Amino acid sequence: MAPPAVVWVPLVLGALLLVAASLWTPPERAQLAPVFVRAPARPLTASRPLAASALRAAAAAYVPDVFNASSGDAPPLAFLPAFRNPCWRNEKAELRCLPLVHVLGAYQCAASDLFGRLARHADFAPPQHASPSFYFEQNHKWGKYLRTFARAAVRIEAAPALLVTGEGSGGMLTLTWTHSERLHQPYILTMGRRWQACNANRTRGADSDARFNACMAAHIPTAHALDAALVARAGARLEVPHLLRAVQGEAVRLICLLRNPTDRVYAAYWHYPHYRGRYGSSALGFATYHAEQQAHLDACVGAHGLEACALRFEGLERRFERVFYHCDQLFKSIYAPYVRVWARAYAPRWRELLLVLRTEDYAASPRASLERVFSFVGLRAPDEGWWASALAAPRQRNGAARDWSRIPPMPAETRAAVDGFYRPHNADLARFLADPRFEWPERTGGHAAPAREGARGASPDDVT
Ligand SMILES: *[C@@H]1O[C@H](CO)[C@@H](O)[C@H](O)[C@H]1NC(C)=O
Ligand SMILES: *[C@@H]1O[C@H](CO)[C@@H](O)[C@H](O)[C@H]1NC(C)=O
Repeated sequence: MAPPAVVWVPLVLGALLLVAASLWTPPERAQLAPVFVRAPARPLTASRPLAASALRAAAAAYVPDVFNASSGDAPPLAFLPAFRNPCWRNEKAELRCLPLVHVLGAYQCAASDLFGRLARHADFAPPQHASPSFYFEQNHKWGKYLRTFARAAVRIEAAPALLVTGEGSGGMLTLTWTHSERLHQPYILTMGRRWQACNANRTRGADSDARFNACMAAHIPTAHALDAALVARAGARLEVPHLLRAVQGEAVRLICLLRNPTDRVYAAYWHYPHYRGRYGSSALGFATYHAEQQAHLDACVGAHGLEACALRFEGLERRFERVFYHCDQLFKSIYAPYVRVWARAYAPRWRELLLVLRTEDYAASPRASLERVFSFVGLRAPDEGWWASALAAPRQRNGAARDWSRIPPMPAETRAAVDGFYRPHNADLARFLADPRFEWPERTGGHAAPAREGARGASPDDVT
């Protein structure tokens, strides 16, 4: 399955060059950037990875409870060698296991369905919750996260050379500011308190909004400085993939399922009620929504560059914090910067550890995509009886089904404009993955051609 060296060596060199290029910040941009964007501590790159112990020390600044030596449940540097899955015995000799498989998302791409069908494999011990979202959401406790895999650990103990477990936390891929809130706690807490103070002081009158914004904006440098202090304490600015690597090392199999970004963003628009609530339940509403959000996104990219905006849009400036839902759905359809952050965190072996599939291929042949997943994870080929029942199982969604017959098709000119917006990002992703299919060359038309027949597993009109 691995491409020949003649293909990947130039790719790896290309990726390193891209990383180097992304490190260079034009002076005028550095002037504008808030404190923490100027890289107060060394950023982690493919060419300068941190050793496992240094990475753990950095991660411990962000997630102290994970590496708490006195809890008795801190993950070890090396897992039990007889186990396919990352497992260890804690101080009381109890077996603890972490998920080898992470289906990272993205949302609206049928990742829940893929995870559900993978979880039916005889060699897969399912977790108690499919989507614990431990690494990006605040307020999840390490002990509770470990208990998510407690039943799986009991099964794995009986067949350590065969069984694995995994999770499907769909927000792991698109590392927007909201999906990495664990890493920005000082900022979030201090701005939350500030919001209360500014709101309590809110006056009536024409300049009420302007005063409120000035009150919030005045505190942003302090909030950035507090985040920068955390980065300095850690010794490196980490992203969510670094936390996972600090805990599990290279004992991971990361899987992404990506769909034509125009279809994804359209599905998201219709799936979450707040966009329709503001812009209207119509194709025109979507067109207005996308054009408005695109203008904000472009303004950010012009000032800070794509990666900083993809990772920290609303944390960069007050004017972006005020944008309705922070362009989140547009960013979530721009896959390339997020895939790059994951690849960088798992360099140099990321091609062995990260599998990126397309929703359209999964819909056309769920069996072929699942076969790639099983071979990537190292699960045995199932028999025909398994395939018959696994492919006949109903679609799995993370949320309610939507009646797509009541959703208007996207007008051709909207589609052309939206496709045009994502085209360079798709080309970038296709180059990075060395796979032209990530340019989504096939014509989809409308909101997506339903491809239900013979593809019971997933359909491109899947909204979750
Ligand atoms: C570490 O674990 C001990 C024992 O369970 C506990 O008392 C302490 O609060 C924990 N510290 C952190 C930072 O979680
Ligand atoms: C609230 O308003 C008062 C009076 O104008 C001012 O002194 C105080 O600094 C304001 N508080 C905040 C948090 O802006």
